[in-house]
Amino acid sequence: MQEQKIIQVKDKTFAVSIPESELKQQIKRVADQISSDFAGQEPVFLAVLNGSFIFAADLLREIDLHCEISFVKLASYQGTSTTGTIREVIGLNFDITGRPVIIIEDIVDTGLTMAHMLDTLKGHNPASIDICTLLLKPTKLQVKLDVRYCCKQIPDDFVVGYGLDYDGFGRNTKDIYTIV
Ligand code: IMP
Ligand code: MG
Repeated sequence: MQEQKIIQVKDKTFAVSIPESELKQQIKRVADQISSDFAGQEPVFLAVLNGSFIFAADLLREIDLHCEISFVKLASYQGTSTTGTIREVIGLNFDITGRPVIIIEDIVDTGLTMAHMLDTLKGHNPASIDICTLLLKPTKLQVKLDVRYCCKQIPDDFVVGYGLDYDGFGRNTKDIYTIV
């Protein structure tokens, strides 16, 4: 029997749940789908930092399209009005008007982050906006969200690795690990 890979990130223990080989396979499948769906178009990929940096790098290298990529961040700050937390997309330094946009996200949990992102980006009048996520926890979704591309659905357990963090740590692994 193969030895189970275990890592310690801060005070928590994690075991491999999605090995690198499976990630590669699923990413290739999604990249091929995107390349076929957007054939003849020039989409803009918007990778959401920090979590998606490794996924974005691997996905883009499997995409067979004339395309651009930019890295964005969703910044939260407390508003002065009664609206509470205000979220703003930062780093969007070029014009997406009339362009097909594909958001690259590490994981969709409640879906609130993506819902905010869609709202903000719609104001820039892109031709279309689609979500491409590495992971999705379907049982956690709190909003109606159309996730067009998903590499893998996972149960409602905390994961790290391959860009995803626990309190800033644990991003630098080739496999994905689930908390034990
Ligand atoms: P949402 O707004 O609830 O969908 O949260 C999405 C964000 O929460 C992701 O972009 C991640 O940064 C973070 N997140 C949610 N679940 C996990 C997890 O299991 N591991 C690491 N980060 C997570
Ligand atoms: Mg994230």
